[in-house]
This record gives sequence, C-alpha cells and structure tokens, in this order.
Amino acid sequence: MSDTTSPVTIRDLAVMKREGRRIVALTAYDALFGTLVDAAGVDIVLVGDSVNTVLCGQSTTLSATLEQMIYHGRMVRAGVQRAMLVIDMPFLTYQISIEEAKRHAGRVMQQTGATAVKLEGGRSLAPTVGGLVEIGIPVMAHLGFTPQSVHALGGARVQGRGAEAAERLVADAKMLADAGAFALVLELVPAPVAQAVTAAIAIPTIGIGSGPHCDGQVLVLHDMLGLNEQFRAKFLKRYANLAEDVRVAVRRFADEVREGRYPDDTHSFAS
Ligand code: KIV
Repeated sequence: MSDTTSPVTIRDLAVMKREGRRIVALTAYDALFGTLVDAAGVDIVLVGDSVNTVLCGQSTTLSATLEQMIYHGRMVRAGVQRAMLVIDMPFLTYQISIEEAKRHAGRVMQQTGATAVKLEGGRSLAPTVGGLVEIGIPVMAHLGFTPQSVHALGGARVQGRGAEAAERLVADAKMLADAGAFALVLELVPAPVAQAVTAAIAIPTIGIGSGPHCDGQVLVLHDMLGLNEQFRAKFLKRYANLAEDVRVAVRRFADEVREGRYPDDTHSFAS
C-alpha cells in the first residue's frame, strides 16, 4: 500500500515499481466485493471480463459486452474508494479501429468512473494504446495468454516458451510501454521470461501465473476465495474455501427450517 487514504494513481504505481514495492490487484464484479477488497487494502481492483465466465457461466470471455462491463463497472465503483479501478474492454470493442476504441473506452470511462481500461494484445495494438492515451485514457496492457484469443492460441496455454517467443514477448512489452501503457498484465508466462520483461520496461508488470518476479500480482477473486471451484490451475493458490462454507451454511439453514428450529424466539418479533 502507498498512502492509505488517497486514491491510487498511475504515478503511485510507477513509484511503487521504482521503489520495489509489490502491487496487489484483485478482480471484483460488484459493489459488495469491491468494498471488501478495497477495505482490505488492494492497490488495483480490476473489473475483468472474466465476469462472463465466473459469474455468467459462459465458457469464454468472448461474448462479454460493453454494456455488461459498464454495468459491473458502475457497481464496483460504488464500493471502491481507494484502489485504482480498471475495467476490461471486451472483445471487438477496441480491435476494429482506433476511432471505435476511443468511443468505446470513452464510454466506459464516462459511465463507470473508472481510472483506466485494460486491453489484450501485442504490438499491433500499440497505435490503439497510443490513441487512447493521447485523449487522456490510461491503458493497462495485457500480454502472454490473452483469454479473448483463447481459440487462436489453442487453449489456455503458457506463452513465450522458447527463445524466439520470449524475445517477441519482450519486444511487444517494450512497444506497448513506448505507446504509453501505464502497466502490463502478464498472464501464463514462464517466470524467467516475466522477469526479463519486468527488467526491460519502466512500467509495472502485474503477473498472473507468471512467477514471482513481476512488480505485482493479480488473481481472480472468486478463484482465490475458493468460490469458483471449477477453476483449477497450477498457479492458483486458494486463500479460503468459501464454496464449502456456502454449502455447509445452506445445509444448516435447510435442516433448521425443516426441523422447525429456525426461526426461534430470538429471531422473531414478540409484538
Ligand atoms: O478478466 C480478468 O479477470 C483478467 C485477469 C485474469 C487479469 O483479465
């Protein structure tokens, strides 16, 4: 954590990288969890398009819409006071043209109160990143495994393996940083490659499944809380087992209702 009261800015994140202080990021999709993670002191709250798989039960993020991201973004905004709020731009809202990207990212910023947007992709996106930054929209970039390209990549696979792929990843990262991105998510990248990217650019790297050498780490909240049991990955560490807690609580409630033990006198109004 930098300052515990004022909202986290892109400058704060740059200072954290320079000073070697790790950046903590988590996803949130609603005001309730937004409030909880913000109060616990995370630096960045990401409204990821993973909402489409985690909450909406879809198999990929590809069908997430701009309206959906704005809807969830507004909810999270209502709960987050200090952390930087970043919102994912969904598939096909920024790839067609720079003009469309500006219009769509501008809507997200205007209608949610976010600080920044996140875009997936490498060197071909650098002009789009530049165009958004030019009109005052901070951009977080995203390299490595980019879930919106899951079919083109042949599944959720580690990216940047082998010297050539690793060099390309480092070059892409430099181009995105030169274009004005203020941070870079590195997803499913071998730890030494993530380390090389982190050393090669001045902006912070935020890793997920990319080892310990990034400037920060992000996880999907529902995965790390053990709420989304479907998601199992080598990199995931579960810090709670909330799905089991939910099952136990619901079974207890059902038993007590069926046995006439709930509500009792203490949970009833006498007059
Ligand atoms: O959509 C998402 O939640 C993300 C994180 C996994 C980085 O992009």
